[in-house]
Amino acid sequence: MPAPRTVYLDHSASTPCDPQVVEAMMPYFSEVYGNSSSSHSFGRKAEMAIEDARESIARVLNCKPTEIVFTSGGSESDNLAVRGAGWMQRAHGKGAHLITTPVEHSAVSAPIKQMAGLQGFKATFLPVSSEAWVDPEDLAAHLRDDTAVVSVIYANNEVGTVAPIPQLAALAHTRGALFHTDAVQAAGQLNLDVQALGVDLMSLSAHKFYGPKGVGALYIRDGLDLVSAQAGGSHERGRRAGTHNTPFIVGMAKALEIAHAEREARTAHYRAMRDLLIDGILTRVPDVLLTGHREQRLPSHASFIVRGVDSSKLLMHLDMRGVAASGGSACKTGNPEPSGVLLAMGYSPEDATGSLRLTVGHHTTADDITYAVETVRASVEKLRALAKMFAS
Ligand SMILES: Cc1ncc(COP(=O)(O)O)c(C=O)c1O
Repeated sequence: MPAPRTVYLDHSASTPCDPQVVEAMMPYFSEVYGNSSSSHSFGRKAEMAIEDARESIARVLNCKPTEIVFTSGGSESDNLAVRGAGWMQRAHGKGAHLITTPVEHSAVSAPIKQMAGLQGFKATFLPVSSEAWVDPEDLAAHLRDDTAVVSVIYANNEVGTVAPIPQLAALAHTRGALFHTDAVQAAGQLNLDVQALGVDLMSLSAHKFYGPKGVGALYIRDGLDLVSAQAGGSHERGRRAGTHNTPFIVGMAKALEIAHAEREARTAHYRAMRDLLIDGILTRVPDVLLTGHREQRLPSHASFIVRGVDSSKLLMHLDMRGVAASGGSACKTGNPEPSGVLLAMGYSPEDATGSLRLTVGHHTTADDITYAVETVRASVEKLRALAKMFAS
């Protein structure tokens, strides 16, 4: 039976590409197709488009265009940041101690674990509160003279908590450590001014702010001679080898420009929809907890633990009724292990298997929310009744 309607509430996993962005990209597939490294006119046209995109992104980040490196997305930006900065710091004699949190995206935690396991780095994972809050006092207590890099996620992808980045970055600098933040979820919703944030490195991914998938950027503060994590040609001033993806880079710049211009209106709408969703779920569905921080929270993000319900079954039921949701992180789909983020926040493995993430976008309506809340309520009721039946 076809679903009566569809409601997409998984904007933290990905957003639709804005038609204005698609239009801006189109000429760069088959009209302006030169390799931006070629010196002839075809190459120069592509290079000009890339440099315009770099300038446009730099305006939003309040940095120099030369401080932007284009990558294939958030994962690559995170890898380049922690590896490139860690290797550089060690080569300069700063030390090999890395600090991060247990609530990072795996694109940060996996390279850090690799560096600790294979390359002699030491890694410290800071404690977090039950709301995934990183306390600056905990960072201060764990910083050392040999701390090379601190990496803390700006807005958490699973539970939406927004970290106090300016305070954390300032603390890292008091001990000569570099500070990286993964701003993949924050982009389009929170302030991306790198001077105000005080960060040295910041990762972005276009598909989270209505741009194309497979393109991202890393802000690298001037003067940091990062070791390239992807070696080869001298693209991006030797910091990232690989032929530029001209249409996607143009698309990312356009998407960020729109997101920046419309940030206030969009986030006001997200907040209104998110709060309807949170209130609806908490009042209509019994035995549900809100996860993450109540106030310091991404405007688009609602996340819960639905007690006594297996998240993967709930997502299937919701999908059959046309509601697209997530168990926490799109990158964890198919992984039956309870979320490490929720465990680090102090939830039991049983509770952590009931995670539900609903993230709104600028096309989300109040009707969508009403439908989604009722669908979650009915699906949870059914799953709990089935579980009771099989248990008896
Ligand atoms: C916080 C965060 N960092 C990094 C990534 C990875 O970005 P990409 O999908 O562009 O590789 C994601 C994607 O979900 C994310 O949410």
